[in-house]
Amino acid sequence: MSESDYVIDEMIPSADIAARIKELSGEIASEFSGTSKLFVVGLLRGSFIFIADLVRELDLPVEIDFLEASSYGDSMESSREVRILKDLRGQIEGRDVLLVEDIVDTGHTLNHVLNLLQSRSPAKLRTIALLDKPDRREVDICADWIGFKIPDEFVVGYGIDFAQRNRNLPHIGKVRFVKT
Ligand code: IMP
Repeated sequence: MSESDYVIDEMIPSADIAARIKELSGEIASEFSGTSKLFVVGLLRGSFIFIADLVRELDLPVEIDFLEASSYGDSMESSREVRILKDLRGQIEGRDVLLVEDIVDTGHTLNHVLNLLQSRSPAKLRTIALLDKPDRREVDICADWIGFKIPDEFVVGYGIDFAQRNRNLPHIGKVRFVKT
């Protein structure tokens, strides 16, 4: 696969993402109002831009930590076997926790990570995903907040990659293969 094999069509402009993040951060702040400090967990690597924008709109005291789970590798298909590649540094027992994911696709990653975090007895655990592809779901799970529901398309940009490329695109685009 070379970079000329596909083009990227814009799907969600960056202004729409910013507007949606403002709405969602208001809802999250209400849900966690009164918290002494919200423990925000970003799922690497795809959520790194989303979490950066989200926490800057959140009117709450926050602590940030990251967790990395295996997912697609360099392919376009989920491995379905989720492994933790990097665990949290902080303890979440008795804490208010928000798990931030880029995309819920088959649902295996969210399901696995949610079970793991739940087993550590947080006081309250909620989840947010920027994108949701409900047509692809294999596990009956949904994030508490969703930025955008999208059709079954492979997307890139705003932190999300295709074989480690295109994470720095400011908007969300869909990958379209072209004959060369
Ligand atoms: P799931 O376990 O199938 O729900 O997959 C979740 C992970 O797969 C996401 O966190 C992404 O890293 C990756 N993923 C799912 N769909 C896409 C896509 O369209 N583009 C890039 N990565 C994706």
